[in-house]
Amino acid sequence: MSKSIEELIPDYLRGLPVYVPGKPIEEVERELHIHAIKLASNENPLGPSPMAMEAARKVLADSNRYPDGGTLRLREKIAALHEVSPDEIFIGLGSSELIDVAARVLLGPGTIGLTSEGTYPPFSTAIRANGGALKRVAMRAFSYDLPEMAHAVTNATRIIYLANPNNPTGTAFGAAEFERFLSHVASGTLVVLDEAYIHYADRVDMPQSVELFRLRKNLLILRTFSKVYGMAGIRIGYGIGAAALVSAMNKLRTPFNV
Ligand SMILES: Cc1ncc(COP(=O)(O)O)c(C=O)c1O
Repeated sequence: MSKSIEELIPDYLRGLPVYVPGKPIEEVERELHIHAIKLASNENPLGPSPMAMEAARKVLADSNRYPDGGTLRLREKIAALHEVSPDEIFIGLGSSELIDVAARVLLGPGTIGLTSEGTYPPFSTAIRANGGALKRVAMRAFSYDLPEMAHAVTNATRIIYLANPNNPTGTAFGAAEFERFLSHVASGTLVVLDEAYIHYADRVDMPQSVELFRLRKNLLILRTFSKVYGMAGIRIGYGIGAAALVSAMNKLRTPFNV
């Protein structure tokens, strides 16, 4: 007898956790009979800019048409902002999509993805869901232990995920520490540097990630419109990465993803 669909689901998927987002505020208020201030997903309580709302209202009238599948105008604007090429910009369905698609490009049987304990759970999920072996290094004082992580890199390590500042611990590493770490990482290992909270960082020596990217093309910098820009519901994130990587990621994303 042939197997059921349930039996055909690979074992590595059975063991994966479902991402559990913070509960909608209405649900919390209804359950607990309180007035709640939601901090769980680090959304901006001030809402989007009136200019962003006006722009969104204008495009709604054209929503019978598919959007520009290559997001050219947005890529051009973001590229100009960071002084990189539009070919080095990937626009995603939130930066969440980039976390997954980067792993899909690089991981498979026999490869390793590296991250830390005490960091954003979707990093580990992306590694495991895309067939890589997950290696997690313990934190030190609620911070990434970058020297230990550098020791943990092997020839099979294809991707490393770091959030700076980190969610949930809120700690951040500085430029010197990060550059020392990068010097231990071979050019064939991609370092995904998730800067979702970069605008909130208060240390003065934060890594100048885009400047580092100009020198090292094995860096993929993630940014999002979800946090400081107050547009989590619009679902737009972007990455700055090598044109070859961006091109491969574009082959895997869904058409009209944004
Ligand atoms: C570190 C980190 N990266 C990425 C994301 C996902 O953000 P986006 O809304 O861009 O998918 C979050 C959201 O909480 C986050 O905390």
